[in-house]
Amino acid sequence: MQTTKAIDLGDPDLYTTLDRHDRWRAYAAEDAVVWSGPGSSPTGFWSVFSHRACAAVLAPSAPFTSEYGMMIGFDRDHPDTSGGRMMVVSEQERHRRLRKLVGPLLSRASARKLADRVRDEVRGVLDGALDGGVCDVATAIGPRIPAAVVCDILGVPEEDQDMLIDLTNHAFGGEDELFDGMTPRQAHTEILVYFDELISARRARPGDDLVSTLLTDEGLDLDDVLLNCDNVLIGGNETTRHAITGAVHALAEVPGLLAGLRDGSADVDAAVEEVLRWTSPAMHVLRVTTADTTVNGQDLPPGTPVVAWLPAANRDPAEFDDPEAFRLDRTPNRHITFGHGVHHCLGSALARIELAVVLRELAERVSTVELLAEPTWLRAIVVQGYSRLQVRFTGR
Ligand code: HEM
Repeated sequence: MQTTKAIDLGDPDLYTTLDRHDRWRAYAAEDAVVWSGPGSSPTGFWSVFSHRACAAVLAPSAPFTSEYGMMIGFDRDHPDTSGGRMMVVSEQERHRRLRKLVGPLLSRASARKLADRVRDEVRGVLDGALDGGVCDVATAIGPRIPAAVVCDILGVPEEDQDMLIDLTNHAFGGEDELFDGMTPRQAHTEILVYFDELISARRARPGDDLVSTLLTDEGLDLDDVLLNCDNVLIGGNETTRHAITGAVHALAEVPGLLAGLRDGSADVDAAVEEVLRWTSPAMHVLRVTTADTTVNGQDLPPGTPVVAWLPAANRDPAEFDDPEAFRLDRTPNRHITFGHGVHHCLGSALARIELAVVLRELAERVSTVELLAEPTWLRAIVVQGYSRLQVRFTGR
C-alpha cells in the first residue's frame, strides 16, 4: 500500500501527545509508505511503519546505508560529518572493527558485572524518592541510572562522576531547560571537552575502560576516539532513561504488575521485554538507499532517505495482538526497540539489566506507585520520551 500524503513527519510537534500512536497505528495497519517533503529535512524522506517493512529496510542484506547519517535531517547531499567514523553511522569493515572493539565492554558478561553498580544506584535514588512526596521519575530516577553506568564503562574517575552525571542529565533532558546558564547542546560540548582530558589521562595511564580500549586501535585518531565515546554516551543515555521512566509508568498503570513481580507470578524478563516494546524510546532510524530498490511498491533510486518508525512497528497489529495493551504473555515478543540488522543495539544487554534491576528493586521496596498526573512528552523526533512523570511511591 502506498500513500503520498503531504505531511512532515519530522515535525516534533506531532509527537507531544498520544495522538502519535493513532497516526502510527493507521499507517502500520495499511502498511503505508509516506513521503514527507522538505521542511524538517532539507530534501524530504520516505517513511515506513509496519513491523515487516521496518525490518526489511534494516535487514543486513538490504540496499541501504547509515553512513550518511541515521536521523531525519541527514541525506546523501547533507551527510552527518561523523559518517564512516562513529560506529552507528559507519558500515562494512570499519563498522565491524568498531563493534569488535567496543562489543566486549557492553556484552552480557560485562553487563552482569555492572549489575551491582546499577543496584547501588537504584537503591540510592529510591532512598530519595520514597519519602512519600511527589517524585518526577523523568528527572529524579530515569536519567540517573544510565548516566552512572555509562560513566563506569567510559572509565570516568569516581570524583568526576557526579559532575558528569549532572552534565549528562542536562545534555539529554530536552531543549527547554537551562542549567547553570547552559543549553543542552553546550552541556554536551562540555562533556566532549571532558572526554578530551580523559583521553589524555588514559593515554598516560591506561585502564580496562572504553577510552583505553579505543586507544589501543592505532587506526583511530583522537577525533575517532571522541566520536565513539560520544556514541556510547548518547546510545547509553538518551533512550535508556525513558525506558526506565516507562517501567515505573507501567508499574503505576498495569493492574497487578507490581504485586506479581513481588510474589513471582510475573516474570521479570517478560516484563522487561514488554517495557521495551511498550515504551520503544528510539523513535526512528534513517537509512539511505545504495541501489535502485522498491519499498512497499514505491520505486526508489539510489540516494533516497527512508525512515523506519520503530514505535509504530512495535504496535503493528499484524505482529502483536492487542498491541496497545501491556501484556506479559507475549511469546514471542519480537519487538524491534533495539533496531534490527547489523546495527542492532550494542548496549541491549546493559539496558535489559538496568530495567530488570529497577523492576526488582521497586517490587521489593514499594507497595504502590500512584500516578499523580498524566505524563507529559518530550517535543522530539529522535526519542519518544517523557518530559514529566509524577508519581507517589508508598514504601513497604
Ligand atoms: C544502536 C536503541 C541502550 C549503545 C542502537 C540502535 C537502536 C538503539 C534502535 C540502532 C540504530 C540504527 O540502527 O541506526 C536503544 C534503546 C536503548 C539502548 C531503545 C535502551 C532502552 C543502549 C545502551 C548503550 C547503547 C545502554 C550503551 C551503553 C548503542 C551503540 C549502538 C546502538 C554503541 C550502535 C551499534 C552499531 O551501530 O552497531 N541502539 N539503545 N544503547 N546503541 Fe542502543
